[in-house]
Amino acid sequence: MNRKLTRADTMIHQFDTVLRTLLPHAARSSRPSPVAPDVQDDEMTVEERRHSEGLMRINHTGEVCAQALYQGQGFTAKLPRVREQMEQSAQEEIDHLAWCDERLQELGGHASVLNPLFYAASFGLGAVAGVVGDRVSLGFVAATEEQVGKHLNEHLETLPPGDHRSRAVLRQMAIDEAHHAQLALEAGGARFPAPVKFGMSLMSKVMTKSVYRI
Ligand SMILES: [Fe+2]
Ligand SMILES: [Fe+2]
Repeated sequence: MNRKLTRADTMIHQFDTVLRTLLPHAARSSRPSPVAPDVQDDEMTVEERRHSEGLMRINHTGEVCAQALYQGQGFTAKLPRVREQMEQSAQEEIDHLAWCDERLQELGGHASVLNPLFYAASFGLGAVAGVVGDRVSLGFVAATEEQVGKHLNEHLETLPPGDHRSRAVLRQMAIDEAHHAQLALEAGGARFPAPVKFGMSLMSKVMTKSVYRI
């Protein structure tokens, strides 16, 4: 039975997504974790585990931002024809969020206390880009996904050699993010000029530096 969604339905759905994103361990993945049950870590020192925890906290916050960005975009952008595709990407971000959360728990770590702040900022940016127009909004998604892809590749290189379980999660995420960027560009996203991308990478540096520890 299909009925047209009212404004109230949309608001309730949005609020539900906010809670699922920000409440600890509330995200549920729709795909199984990319970490095969028989994959075990090698011995890691205390410092190595702490480093893995810091990197996975950054990735977890990155996924909180991705949720907020897609949600902000969905709130204001028109996205004719491509809305379903963008919702599919947003669903995959929930998988990422849940996988990072699981891995953080395994490492004995906690999600960043700054997540609500980054959620609000990313939602705002996504919504503003959506108001400006779909080309900008989709371009913003593409540029963000490319930025996330760069981080993931850096993290894959700097993870402790024995951390096979985090590595398995990040590998699958890198594949998905590259696909999200490609979808957003194919859907008509503008390619952002280098100075805008540079500004975005400065902002992401602020995020990674702060979230690594808290
Ligand atoms: Fe993601
Ligand atoms: Fe993504």
